[in-house]
Amino acid sequence: MAVGIFDSGLGGLTVLDAVAKRLPDVPLVYLGDSAHAPYGVRTPDDIYDLTTKASQRLFDAGCDLVILACNTASAAALRRMQEGWVPEGKRVLGVFVPLIEALTERQWGDNSPPREVDVKHVALFATPATVSSRAFQRELAFRAIGVDVEAQACGGVVDAIEEGDMILAEALVSSHVEALKRKMPQPDAAVLGCTHYPLMAAQFQAALGPDVKVFSQAELVAESLADYLERRPAMVGPGTESAFLTTGNPAQVSARATQFLRRKITFDAA
Ligand code: DGL
Repeated sequence: MAVGIFDSGLGGLTVLDAVAKRLPDVPLVYLGDSAHAPYGVRTPDDIYDLTTKASQRLFDAGCDLVILACNTASAAALRRMQEGWVPEGKRVLGVFVPLIEALTERQWGDNSPPREVDVKHVALFATPATVSSRAFQRELAFRAIGVDVEAQACGGVVDAIEEGDMILAEALVSSHVEALKRKMPQPDAAVLGCTHYPLMAAQFQAALGPDVKVFSQAELVAESLADYLERRPAMVGPGTESAFLTTGNPAQVSARATQFLRRKITFDAA
């Protein structure tokens, strides 16, 4: 039994960590496509091709269920994959829906009509591809009315994190938050719509100020996965081993991952 977790690079490790804590008995196979990161500046076709290839690799590793722990892939490729690519008996799920369910105070899988919610002004921080897909606004509109969303494409942040340049990442976070505040001076909530950004959560919160509730995905996705597997236990696939796979340089990626998660992580070549 194994569940696959995919990201363009290291960001999905924030989700993997939360899932490993919530479901300690489920083997997890992580695949980071570091050779092709960042995805956020790629075209939807390109993101679709890379994401299907990576998901197939995770199916081959014994996973029946793959979590796209990448908002960019969830926004640009997931729907197309679910509509025409996912093989029979396999599932691919994204990371938007659990986040939006939390923001709109819904139970997992509540499909009732959209209604008014507490938050009125939401700042969305995400990659350029996620912002231009408008997938977040679309999913939100299915569940809530009267919510004003201002999106900020945070160019450069994923590259800086992948390179381990946290000083640059921090400077970019401050300038993206400033840019957002010029468009929406007082958001009530902020969504970290990229799985790399929880690694900079403290910087986002500091730049936004203490009154803004910052939503990040890792724990929300872990909780909704636990709920999903309780309802569909057969979706834990036949794989028995946890693994970390990368399309990048395994030694370099292992060193960065160990630094981010503060525990030893060893990647193998995908
Ligand atoms: N962690 C990915 C996300 O959640 C980053 C995408 C990228 O590689 O630009 O969007």
